[in-house]
Amino acid sequence: MSHIIALANQKGGTGKTTTAVHLAYYLAVQKKQTTLLIDADSQNSSSQWLYNLTPSIPTQVISDKEQLFEEIPQLAQKYEYIVVDGPAGRLEDETKAILARVDLVIVPIQPKVLDLSSTLKAVLLINQAQEMRQGSPLGAIFINRAKSGTRLKEEATRFLKTVPGVLALKTVIHDREVISDAPGQNATIWTMTGKPAITARAEYAQLFEEIFGLLNT
Ligand SMILES: Nc1ncnc2c1ncn2[C@@H]1O[C@H](COP(=O)(O)OP(=O)(O)OP(=O)(O)O)[C@@H](O)[C@H]1O
Ligand SMILES: [Mg+2]
Repeated sequence: MSHIIALANQKGGTGKTTTAVHLAYYLAVQKKQTTLLIDADSQNSSSQWLYNLTPSIPTQVISDKEQLFEEIPQLAQKYEYIVVDGPAGRLEDETKAILARVDLVIVPIQPKVLDLSSTLKAVLLINQAQEMRQGSPLGAIFINRAKSGTRLKEEATRFLKTVPGVLALKTVIHDREVISDAPGQNATIWTMTGKPAITARAEYAQLFEEIFGLLNT
């Protein structure tokens, strides 16, 4: 049985692409699962990033809403895991098509006041899909780019628990230079060396294992 996981949040720059690429890489290389990344982001950044990696991970760019709706289930028959990198901005119809087809949607949010308020807009689409699909997709939300010991991180942690219809993930991904450096070096934190990469790896592995735990429930 295949699993389809999307990264979604219409708010730009929250970490959808960064998380999708690392998740696809973790699944394909660390977990040895056949994995396809569907790049639904018009900037094509995740497909470019994965294409430049060694080993490269299969990707397919699909930005048209009808095509997303039709092709996600077809592609899922050929892979153990599909990771969808969702679009930003006003592409609500594309996001809706993705939400109609995935098992699990992960929402990255940044601990900033404006991001917290706009999160509810992203979650509204998830809640609507859940209403139409008898509870599917399962939704989960996590904090990305947190700074240790800040009030905003604490506020965001409290906020997560109040968001309807999505589970608050315990793992927090911190703001790390090694993570933002990865695409420019045609790398992921698993292919980079040094202590910062090792620390980031542990954090991502914990996040992804928490996510896989949800798929098995
Ligand atoms: N944990 C992190 N630590 C440091 N930098 C990060 C982290 N996560 C993401 N970034 C950086 O934040 C920026 C936005 O991330 P990313 O492109 O993944 O977001 P996105 O949600 O896909 O954006 P868009 O909505 O434009 O598609 C990038 O420059 C990325 O390198
Ligand atoms: Mg993106």
